[in-house]
Amino acid sequence: MRRPFVAGNWKMNLDLPAGRALVSELRARITGAPPIDIAVCPTSIYLFPMAKAIADSPIRLGAQNLWHEAHGAFTGEVSAAMVRETGCTYVILGHSERRHTIGPKGADGRVQGETDEMISKKTQAALRAELIPIVCVGETLAERDAGQTEAVLSRQIEGSLAGLDAASSARVVIAYEPVWAIGTGRNATPEQAQDAHRHIRGRLVERFGKAAAEAIRIQYGGSVKPDNALTLMKCPDVDGALVGGASLKAGDFYGILEACIRAKGLG
Ligand code: 13P
Repeated sequence: MRRPFVAGNWKMNLDLPAGRALVSELRARITGAPPIDIAVCPTSIYLFPMAKAIADSPIRLGAQNLWHEAHGAFTGEVSAAMVRETGCTYVILGHSERRHTIGPKGADGRVQGETDEMISKKTQAALRAELIPIVCVGETLAERDAGQTEAVLSRQIEGSLAGLDAASSARVVIAYEPVWAIGTGRNATPEQAQDAHRHIRGRLVERFGKAAAEAIRIQYGGSVKPDNALTLMKCPDVDGALVGGASLKAGDFYGILEACIRAKGLG
């Protein structure tokens, strides 16, 4: 069985005292060894102090991005080895905000963000640095309405995981985050999530073979809250959650961890 994995993507939220307070409350609530993997992903400037804050706890640390080159003239960027050095276990890559929100606008008015090709380079750099990449995929509302969801997911999986072999693919986590569900309060229904996750699993089987694909964890992300987490996490191909807004409050994030544990029959 795949070990469920719930991560909090803090995005550009929480100052250092607030991050420390949140982790301290989480540590107090998580007693013993949890049956799922748990991570928090603060902004990169806080990774070192947050590594201290989570020390000797079951909570692991994730970064929100990295640059694929090892070193050089890349002002403002952070390499995979540098991320690893802070104490990170995970790194989120290709988040939809980096694909669609952050970056210059092209002539058509759309943001020219990260491409699958960039994300595949970052994924390989993360694996070389012994980080576990959380590779995000997901369709926009326009793509869903146009019936392109499966084609978009296939293209993103193929492109973002280009160059990987079956052995390294098993170390990757996929996050399915429909863009229309992120920060909108409108989560995918369990059926929509399961359909997308099943489709992604099918592409992974084609690409890496059944054994490797069955080992890859696929998180769901997009308006996950304590009150909708149970039904979402019960879906057989949903192996956990990548949580945005609800990860900024210890009580809500803990509620999602509990729901995940219950949904998977682990406690
Ligand atoms: P929300 O949970 O705030 O919708 O954000 C999801 C997300 O983008 C996690 O990476």
